[in-house]
Amino acid sequence: MAAELTNPAYAALLARRSGNARALVGPAPDAATLEAIILAASRAPDHGRLVPFRFLEVAESARDHLADMLEAASRALTPDLPQPEIDRAREKAHQGPLILAMIGRIETHHPKITASDQWLAVGCALENLLLALQSFGFAAAIRSGKFLETAPMHEGFGLSANEHLVSLIAIGKPGEWPPEKPKPTLDRVFARWNG
Ligand SMILES: Cc1cc2nc3c(=O)[nH]c(=O)nc-3n(C[C@H](O)[C@H](O)[C@H](O)COP(=O)(O)O)c2cc1C
Repeated sequence: MAAELTNPAYAALLARRSGNARALVGPAPDAATLEAIILAASRAPDHGRLVPFRFLEVAESARDHLADMLEAASRALTPDLPQPEIDRAREKAHQGPLILAMIGRIETHHPKITASDQWLAVGCALENLLLALQSFGFAAAIRSGKFLETAPMHEGFGLSANEHLVSLIAIGKPGEWPPEKPKPTLDRVFARWNG
């Protein structure tokens, strides 16, 4: 690619990468920085301006409760889950100086805006959040999986019927970056259509 084909925003897009949840260290973003980062997330394109996403900052005092919810969620999925895996599930509640819960609110019967449009807005908000975090020198590790859809997590966060726990995002200073993951080549994601 031609060397002149770059600029700081473009370079930031190419440089975005996930952190390692277990390696994240303090400090977390302070309140003003976190609000600035959430503001960037809220600038996601949003068909119908439904704002189908929101974020909850998990209070330090709530980490043990979150660990209990993660344990209950794991047991809900696998009732006889061995203790080491229960412990691993609980650990997620204590990884990262800051944890955000991201919530998607999808109106499946909206007369005009499709659910996929709404989910795309959620995805764009997530990407904005990750880019804003990295622009302030922070790293993020996204945690997701079937455990998010369990009743202990849904009820634990007090979500409404049309809300989904999209991910738990551990945030902090990178500590050490995990190995860079291979990225798709252009031909995998782009082609010309000649009709
Ligand atoms: C919606 C979503 C959920 C994800 N959940 C997980 C997860 O549970 N565990 C994990 O290690 N990475 C998770 N990731 C991060 C991806 O693994 C990561 O983006 C991918 O490996 C590419 O690496 P990079 O982010 O460093 O470019 C998730 C990413 C997205 C967008």
